[in-house]
Amino acid sequence: MEKEFVGRTFDDFLFRPQPGVVASRGQVDLTLALSAHHSLSLPIISANMDSVTGSAMAKTMALEGGVGIVHRAMSIADQAREVSQVKRSHGYIVETPLCLPRGATIREARLFTRKHHITGILIAEGPTSLRLAGLLSNRDMPWADDCESRRVEEFMTPADRLVTAAPDITMGEAEKILFEKRIEKLPLVTPDGVIKGLITKKDLILSRQRPYSSKDSKGRLLVGAAIGARGDYLERAMELIQAGADLLVIDIAHGHSEGMKSAVESFRRRIGDAELICGNVGTGEGALFLKNLGVNGIKVGIGPGRGCRTRLETGAGVPQLQAVREVWHAVRDSIPIIADGGTRSDKDIFLALACGASSVMVGAMLSGTDEAPGHVIVDPATGQKQKIYRGMTSPQAVLQALYDAEDQPVRDDALATPPEGQEMQIPYKGSVIDVLQRIRGHLASSVSYAGASTLAEARAKIVADPLSYLIPLSESAYRESYLR
Ligand code: XMP
Repeated sequence: MEKEFVGRTFDDFLFRPQPGVVASRGQVDLTLALSAHHSLSLPIISANMDSVTGSAMAKTMALEGGVGIVHRAMSIADQAREVSQVKRSHGYIVETPLCLPRGATIREARLFTRKHHITGILIAEGPTSLRLAGLLSNRDMPWADDCESRRVEEFMTPADRLVTAAPDITMGEAEKILFEKRIEKLPLVTPDGVIKGLITKKDLILSRQRPYSSKDSKGRLLVGAAIGARGDYLERAMELIQAGADLLVIDIAHGHSEGMKSAVESFRRRIGDAELICGNVGTGEGALFLKNLGVNGIKVGIGPGRGCRTRLETGAGVPQLQAVREVWHAVRDSIPIIADGGTRSDKDIFLALACGASSVMVGAMLSGTDEAPGHVIVDPATGQKQKIYRGMTSPQAVLQALYDAEDQPVRDDALATPPEGQEMQIPYKGSVIDVLQRIRGHLASSVSYAGASTLAEARAKIVADPLSYLIPLSESAYRESYLR
């Protein structure tokens, strides 16, 4: 590795502006590889932390062209449900729509819509039947208290009055029917009435508005999930794959370890060649170790995270830009590198990508948003709105995980280990969509200043010879650049 990177991180550099070739920054393509088989049009990953990524964050990340990794501090069943919520929504066809039997009560239907965040339920002929009996939409739902124990079949629109379509309908044909009939939901059924899918107006509009969303080969949103390396992690992995997870992440603090080796080997034996990202490592040796284990992506970052106390408590770590650079030298572009943690401003994301990463995992920057789990707290003294952000080994996160994961005793010893993470309050930021739009805009500007027309082109240029582009900063140049 170039010696200029030793001991250096994002704020230690600026990059030298190059002659611009971009006509409009809105047109700059930011696509880079996420893992062996997936790429992202916005190479940002929301961190698998309980204050950052649940299904709401993962959905929005994928809709905006990034991806979310659903955290694992919950039971296997809960995590699988979060993943399937992402997979079920916003692809333009819901392949296995949620159904209730016609004998279900209104109370059950109400709880069902709340639990699954849906606005209408397909009603099947019976508890084990998939034959369409009707549709109970929000508008059909009675609001009087005395209806709670009545059956949904009394209120649904029956199948013979519903507009339906064949399962192989195209997006264009579906749009036409939804508009012409002025309906919101189009059940897809076989000629003998068996439910095979559902198309909703909302999903079609979202698909059209966001051609850059991250999708799998069937057009469903892309999602990842963390599994860890101990206890029931293989069972977790299988359930998550079953729920539709496109990639799994073995996320342990010290990924260059025997624990990781045996975890990956057992994973490959039991689960085969599912897309697997592993970390964290901070050195070239650590990256080669993971590469030789046959992983599909390497997550890099020892201690740079905002909620992280590893470096303070143990003295171990590698400045994040150095770590990314070191890892790139070890594996070059043979395997995608994910820079994880320590990005405080948008330029840090560009520098990580330009020096070797092909995507960046972000925690604190995306926390404090509507889509992050947790509630908005109003500080009674100042009136300011805040949300909690915390490291996954903070005492608060460890306790919550113990509380939530009744079915897995993996963290029995967790509280006995001194914490290497901390909790903090982050100002409430509104929707993460605004944060992502800002990042997208700034990345496009960085590409323009780098004299390229796409992020991949800028990265290819700089990654091969960063010292021709990067300016190491003196103390006063740093102050001039980054202190305001
Ligand atoms: P940022 O800076 O984006 O970092 O908020 C997110 C990353 O921080 C890592 N992380 C931790 N690291 N102790 C640690 O040493 C922790 O408790 C902890 N929790 C999260 C993780 O890699 C995440 O993606």
